[in-house]
Amino acid sequence: MRWNLSLTCAAALFGFGLFAVSEASADVFRDPDTGFSFSQKDVAITTNNEFITFRVAIPSPAPAGQPYDAVIQVVAPVAAGWVGVAWGGSMTNNPLLISWANGASGVVSIRRATAHTAPAVYTGASAQVLSKGTKSNGTHWQVTSKCTGCTQFTTTGTTTKTLNPAGSNRLAFAYSKTKPSQPGSNSSPINVHDLFNYWEHDFASAGNPEFQDLVDRNL
Ligand code: HEM
Repeated sequence: MRWNLSLTCAAALFGFGLFAVSEASADVFRDPDTGFSFSQKDVAITTNNEFITFRVAIPSPAPAGQPYDAVIQVVAPVAAGWVGVAWGGSMTNNPLLISWANGASGVVSIRRATAHTAPAVYTGASAQVLSKGTKSNGTHWQVTSKCTGCTQFTTTGTTTKTLNPAGSNRLAFAYSKTKPSQPGSNSSPINVHDLFNYWEHDFASAGNPEFQDLVDRNL
């Protein structure tokens, strides 16, 4: 009886230990295709267990208060025509990185809006598709891109926002079931979203000491 009890306690303790460890690292995805270590979040898009996965990788160390590049990997059900990430956590006054599949490849476009109307192409940030992290199959597409200018940007007036590389940042996403009308062009018109939402993304576990090498290897 005592043995059983202590076993139970040990199991409970061990279980808790495992849980604690996985709490800290469960959202880290080591991508065999690209070599990046991503901090990831699954965001529900239906009540039917369908979600879009957002993965972020950044350089390590990334000096506080300075701009740094970020790699974003979006994994979406094929029903998603485009998926946007708002780096400042709202539709307006921040870079919107929009990804979509185009056959076996992917397209990424940076836009910006000052109101809740179709965002314009934005040249204050730039994004590049990382081809080795971009693919699709019968159920999902995945686009991986590197953004320069997505982690530090002006919001309104002269206010600058810098995403905290050592903590969590509130991001927003939006997606449309309708594909961009000119899927081969990153300046294609896009339809309004069917859904948007917000989440806290952990950047503290997104660090990659070999960041630049990995970017170069995945272009
Ligand atoms: C043709 C393109 C787009 C149109 C016409 C559009 C329009 C709108 C409208 C009318 C709203 C208000 C909806 C409401 O309050 O219920 C809204 C909200 C929102 N949109 Fe868009 N949108 C577009 C593209 C995008 C893109 C590319 C993103 C990228 C992530 C985005 C992110 C959001 C977010 C997060 C909200 C919630 C309110 C906020 O945080 O500002 N939208 N949009």
